[in-house]
Amino acid sequence: MKLKIAVLPGDGVGPEVTAQAVKALEAIALEYDHQFSYDYADVGAVAIDKHNNPLPDETLKLCKNSDAVLFGAIGNPKYDNAEGDIRPEQGLLKLRKELGLFANVRPIKAFDALLDKSPLKVDNIKGVDISIYRELTGGIYFGKKGTAEDGRSAFDTCEYNTEEIERITHLAFKSAQERRQKLTLVDKANVLETSRLWRKTVADLAKSYPEVILDFLYVDNAAMQMILNPKQFDVILTGNMFGDIISDEASVIGGSIGLLPSASVGEKYALFEPIHGSFPQAAGENIANPIATILSAAMLLEHFGLYDEADTIVDGVEKSINLGITTSDLSKKHDNITTLKVGDFIADYISHPNDSDHNFNNIHLGQSTII
Ligand code: IPM
Ligand code: MG
Repeated sequence: MKLKIAVLPGDGVGPEVTAQAVKALEAIALEYDHQFSYDYADVGAVAIDKHNNPLPDETLKLCKNSDAVLFGAIGNPKYDNAEGDIRPEQGLLKLRKELGLFANVRPIKAFDALLDKSPLKVDNIKGVDISIYRELTGGIYFGKKGTAEDGRSAFDTCEYNTEEIERITHLAFKSAQERRQKLTLVDKANVLETSRLWRKTVADLAKSYPEVILDFLYVDNAAMQMILNPKQFDVILTGNMFGDIISDEASVIGGSIGLLPSASVGEKYALFEPIHGSFPQAAGENIANPIATILSAAMLLEHFGLYDEADTIVDGVEKSINLGITTSDLSKKHDNITTLKVGDFIADYISHPNDSDHNFNNIHLGQSTII
């Protein structure tokens, strides 16, 4: 298959982690005889620095002319309290809106080898497998907002219409059909008008998916349930802001936010990115966990129906985790396992999946004959 991939490394550790994902994709292309091409463009704080625009027209054009976007991370503390309107995050929000990426899919899984890395009880998290469907181009993120002239009041509005709710709801129901047939709508329908619209719309559509059991949970309760008993969840459907919060919370199940990938899809375009941020303190240090971005590359392959290829990446990730060849957020088994080494290891696994564990350890130690 030929795929034209736009790579937007972004800020902080973004360039380091996307480089490892590209390495994994290249190893896949070689093994499975695909032609992937990569075009790089600026987004976020680097784009502000260089072009005075967090999403330059050229970047947007490249994304629209590509089959998929691989995205790193966005954000730089120097813009956190910036006066004026330009912020790195606007680049990502505009990109999501312009590409119509209305559904953000965030899988949450507990890797067996990492159960003890989570602050949660092993019994509660073993076997967790959740798919969060977060609405991505509406709600309070994109509603009218403003600050009064005297700077003493501000507002953000949350708006949803049925069309916006329906299109992601269909995707979430379809996913539940293929999984464990349970869909939980997370909302705040006891307070918010928009949440009541979500409930009504989703309940109406549920009639077309009779085999899926639908339930509703207020977001405050859902936040608690995510910690107390995450195994109860199969597919979670929710709006933009609740999805942002609950998916970061869910990341503690896996032991590190550095593990969680995501896919953002719309009618026409698709973007793949780790759910973590730019981790500015670690930029250039070669210590960030590249697994979330590498797994995002696997989601990219899956999106194009390349299931074996995606599985091979996931196997490589599992192998690295099982052998403790992971960055320090996950393991102290080996010292100095850098971002680059994890990426090298996974790419090597893709090229030589049948080598013994012993050989893989040697690769890590730089003693292997196969690299
Ligand atoms: C995410 C991030 C973004 C969001 C930020 C960087 C704008 O937190 O993708 O979860 O809030 O959507
Ligand atoms: Mg977030």
